[in-house]
Amino acid sequence: MSTETMSPLAKMSATVQFNGKAVTLPVLEGTEGETAIDIEKLRGSTGLITIDPGYANTGSCKSRITFIDGEKGILRYRGYPIEELAQRSTFLEVSWLLLHGELPTVSELSAFGREVTRHSLLHEDFGKFFGALPKDAHPMPVCAAAVGALATFYQQPETDQLIQDTIVRLIAKMPTIAAYSYKHSIGQPFIYPLNRLDYASNFLHMMFATPCEAYEVDPVLAKTVDLLLILHADHEQNCSTSTVRMVGSSRANLFASISAGISALWGPLHGGANQQVIEMLEQIAVQEGSAEKFLAKAKDKDDTTRLMGFGHRVYKSYDPRAAILKKACTDVIERVAVSSRLLEIAMRLEEIALRDDYFVSRKLYPNVDFYSGVIYKALGIPVNMFTVMFTLGRLPGWIAQWVEMRHDPDFRISRPRQIYTGPTLRHYAPMGERTRR
Ligand code: CMC
Repeated sequence: MSTETMSPLAKMSATVQFNGKAVTLPVLEGTEGETAIDIEKLRGSTGLITIDPGYANTGSCKSRITFIDGEKGILRYRGYPIEELAQRSTFLEVSWLLLHGELPTVSELSAFGREVTRHSLLHEDFGKFFGALPKDAHPMPVCAAAVGALATFYQQPETDQLIQDTIVRLIAKMPTIAAYSYKHSIGQPFIYPLNRLDYASNFLHMMFATPCEAYEVDPVLAKTVDLLLILHADHEQNCSTSTVRMVGSSRANLFASISAGISALWGPLHGGANQQVIEMLEQIAVQEGSAEKFLAKAKDKDDTTRLMGFGHRVYKSYDPRAAILKKACTDVIERVAVSSRLLEIAMRLEEIALRDDYFVSRKLYPNVDFYSGVIYKALGIPVNMFTVMFTLGRLPGWIAQWVEMRHDPDFRISRPRQIYTGPTLRHYAPMGERTRR
């Protein structure tokens, strides 16, 4: 099948029988052989809708951006294996790839880099915005609010050209917003972006420089941040990306849609897991022998504890991003010469879990968040900034998915159905006649 088309398979279809009537539904096939029943006509023909908690069996769109085979542990952006991109590419190049579908030429990449560099400043009035928020504010809602607030600075019609400007502004300003949210929380002055630095170095500089003394960015650490951003850049229809698409489906602007995505990412079952992993490892570190105790709690059905950084809706084998990060952990810890205690605990937890029938039978393996926190910690990134780091990485993926959704010939506002389970018809009773059973 051509990569340009996706048509109903000539010979494959699925039949639904209901109330003595049979309806034949087309089966679609993607370029990697994944198949799906197209139920667009189901309700019209039978009155039935489908119920699928957590959308575990529901394809919400056709997409040309990211391919995951969760059984085989495969992740590809626009066809390119994550391992190759992690080893050979840069975050800005990967961003271009996600946004445009092809790797950039030399001139395309340098023009993109120039534009991103030149748009990294925030409007000076943003200082008042940060100043209005409490000092101990978690940086994730600060970032979500700041990105939403960008829409007030760029109130413009959404032509294709102006959307391109918005895309550059978002990618350029996100590190500045992220670093400012941190500087605000520790009461230090904001550090302006430095145009001579690359994307990751500029972010580290804005995070850790102060006006009082020079700060030299370690190129190896900047490269590690760049790697982390690449690994997070897209992951098809996960919770935050689906949120971006859903909000955007009302034709809400890109700033509003990305702001919603940041809020969705904050949750502990999604991007917030990286913060929870490090808190879990630190908790285990202070109690001897508690790795086993912790795993026992994670397996206990009457306990809500989970082994954070383990398990994934799609991966039923080792998350390829976790495999890359596990190796990077050792390199970074050696480079910055910090204690490897948390990494050792993480590796021990992994070893015990992967021998335990509970985790094996449920196909629960380390996900991207299991080792990323150990690296962030070694890089000196504060724990409450971990999910912000995920946000920086995921941004080009969210944008690419939003743009794809806007140009989708099948575009419709997202509006799922439901099965109503509340009271049937009843009539308004005056206050004095109301009783509680
Ligand atoms: N620890 C203990 N048990 C688990 C875990 C875990 N981390 N993850 C899943 N399970 C069990 C779960 O209790 C259930 O058991 P049973 O079949 O006996 O009821 C079974 O495995 C299936 O779990 P599920 O919750 O139905 O799976 P899901 O696909 O709905 O959830 C998940 C996926 C990632 C939310 C879940 O695995 C989890 O909570 N993991 C910990 C949080 C985490 O690491 N999140 C980061 C995900 S990767 C980064 C990202 O994309 O955001």
